[in-house]
Amino acid sequence: MVAETVLTPANLIWPLFIAEGEGVEEPIASLPGVSRWSVDHIVARAREARALGIPCVALFQNTPRALRTDDAGEALNPDNLICRAVRAVKDAVPEIGILTDVALDPYTAHGHDGIVDDKGYVLNDVTSAILVEQALVQAEAGADIVAPSDMMDGRVGAIRQALEQRGHHNVQIMAYAAKYASAFYGPFRDAVGSRGLLKGDKKAYQMDYANAEEALREVAMDLAEGADTVMVKPGLPYLDIVRRVKERFEVPVFAYQVSGEYAMIEASAAAGAGDRDALVLETLTAFRRAGCSGVLTYHAPHAARLLAG
Ligand code: PBG
Repeated sequence: MVAETVLTPANLIWPLFIAEGEGVEEPIASLPGVSRWSVDHIVARAREARALGIPCVALFQNTPRALRTDDAGEALNPDNLICRAVRAVKDAVPEIGILTDVALDPYTAHGHDGIVDDKGYVLNDVTSAILVEQALVQAEAGADIVAPSDMMDGRVGAIRQALEQRGHHNVQIMAYAAKYASAFYGPFRDAVGSRGLLKGDKKAYQMDYANAEEALREVAMDLAEGADTVMVKPGLPYLDIVRRVKERFEVPVFAYQVSGEYAMIEASAAAGAGDRDALVLETLTAFRRAGCSGVLTYHAPHAARLLAG
């Protein structure tokens, strides 16, 4: 009766990985319990989310190696895996919200989120122009929320303007506003097939984990440019950032409990060091306590089942 915080399935967003083919399930070794699914299976997962009361799925694609290029052209193909999955889910489960990732890393031959110069430096403005086209392609396919996760400057404003011009007034932008250059993304890079390709690190565009005030400046910029909601990422080690963003800006704040965090909980449970169900509910409730409206988590269906009792 006196609990200050409530966690429900409505607070969960379920990230899903898409693979080419039909009837395909590819387990991801570094993310035990998580698979890449072909589009037909993704539709089934969306039905499952709907039945569990999870309002939204986040889609990521593993691009076939041959389609990864320096200019990330496949990101702009209206028939790429993401767009096919968005259309299939919208068709079969229209009630579910669909969030798509705007960034080039699953499409570039070098695994960076943007276009690089001959020294390997990611070019902000060149990349931003492509991200605008990518967001439009995803919106045309039926995405409800586009989520730029690339950390280029100015891309939220450019995407908002382009969405308005093309009549996508109701497509929301969830900005990965404070995204840190983190060691917790490893299993995700396996899932989208970019780990082995990545040259160097992402410190030139993702944030230094020593900084908090910088996160507030990043959030302020994205909100001024038209972001509807903002995200902090990774999750659990950054709850101080969530709290400061929430108190400063009073907007819906989301956090991404990222792949490495999921893997830590699974490893702890597998080693007998911790109780999986208890760890899942405690960590997700902590996000809510810190001020999150919702959490992107690979534990979403499991947590929803636990909450249903
Ligand atoms: C890429 C992207 C990443 C994640 C979401 N979008 C990885 C990265 O920035 O290298 C990480 C999610 C996770 O680890 O679960 N733009």
